[in-house]
Amino acid sequence: MAEIRLERVRKTFGRVVAVKDVDLTIADGEFLVLLGPSGCGKTTTLRCIAGLERADTGRIFIGGRNVTELPPARRGIAMVFQSYAVFPHMTVAQNIGFGLRMRHIAKREIRAAVQEAAELLQIDELLDRYPAQLSGGQRQRVAVARAIVMKPEVLLMDEPLSNLDALLRLQMRAELKRLHREIGTTTVYVTHDQVEALSLGDRIAVMREGAVVQLDHPNTVYDRPATTFVAGFIGTPPMNFLRATVNASGDDLALAVGDFTVPLPPAWKPSLRTMVGKLVVVGIRAENIGVHADATPGSLPATVLVSEPLGAQQLLTVQVGKDVLKVTTAPEPLLQAGQTVGLTLIKEKLRLFDEESGKALSIGAGPPAQGERR
Ligand SMILES: Nc1ncnc2c1ncn2[C@@H]1O[C@H](COP(=O)(O)OP(=O)(O)OP(=O)(O)O)[C@@H](O)[C@H]1O
Ligand SMILES: [Mg+2]
Repeated sequence: MAEIRLERVRKTFGRVVAVKDVDLTIADGEFLVLLGPSGCGKTTTLRCIAGLERADTGRIFIGGRNVTELPPARRGIAMVFQSYAVFPHMTVAQNIGFGLRMRHIAKREIRAAVQEAAELLQIDELLDRYPAQLSGGQRQRVAVARAIVMKPEVLLMDEPLSNLDALLRLQMRAELKRLHREIGTTTVYVTHDQVEALSLGDRIAVMREGAVVQLDHPNTVYDRPATTFVAGFIGTPPMNFLRATVNASGDDLALAVGDFTVPLPPAWKPSLRTMVGKLVVVGIRAENIGVHADATPGSLPATVLVSEPLGAQQLLTVQVGKDVLKVTTAPEPLLQAGQTVGLTLIKEKLRLFDEESGKALSIGAGPPAQGERR
């Protein structure tokens, strides 16, 4: 096992800067998820760590060793790709043992290692089958077993679940989490699926245009996104945004949303004093908005545009002045389009962003980061 360290790693393809001077330290035994939209540089970052791409500038260390100039085979890594290329003419056992055979390991040792890896992935019943006789999920397990049988210092995975159907993905996600707990190998996992990232990561590195824009524990990324981009990328539905002005009313601070006033927590006063009179972007998640069937005094008047029953809850699309928000509430009673409702915003859950840069305004010390690594 090993720590991975990227120092100002840059990779360009012609005029495209795929990885933009990334600094990143992944702790020994950590499960780090690289998350971001298509084309943001996740795969290229992973391929640089693997040695499949040569960084233009910067250095990469694995377990304290400078591997920047080393070929993939000498970096102590194993990789699982999206297209889990298993060899069709080999049995499951031969597929898993392939890398060890290349290393001329004794047959008996190979058999034992293959058996152990297969048991970890729960495919030990399938060792004599050929890939064509396996389901997609089973084939992906073979690909993972083939990687971990090498006992790599570092496991690199690029969207390994994206070829599986939704139910299987859910199952394999939990399996990968269990596997990581059992083998503890430092893992870098690429996905553009934010739910997968929240579920699997000890930490998540959110990437945009080749750069890491936030590196935090999943709960922190969710609850305290560093920018409106992260806030809008993470969560189903993503965070709502409202335009508002910071107002001082007497000794207290409040947000003016249209002609409506939302009081702010008194503890935020010191950090926001300089913002009085300024326009801000207010972020609030769907579950942090209360919905009242009647527009009770003190609640923000809104009109229901759409109500969607989703089983455990109903998802409302509501209009507040010029802004449209998503709100989740109890499944019953089902609200009707056109109905007027009153919204209350949990003020501690309001997140304020700079109107121009989209960066989160730092407010007080904030609570300590949630979900510390094991
Ligand atoms: N071999 C290549 N030649 C030229 N451009 C490339 C090459 N590989 C990647 N790029 C470009 O570099 C950028 C980053 O690509 P990368 O594959 O790392 O993105 P990604 O985050 O993995 O996206 P996706 O989620 O779609 O897999 C993109 O603009 C892409 O077009
Ligand atoms: Mg990719």
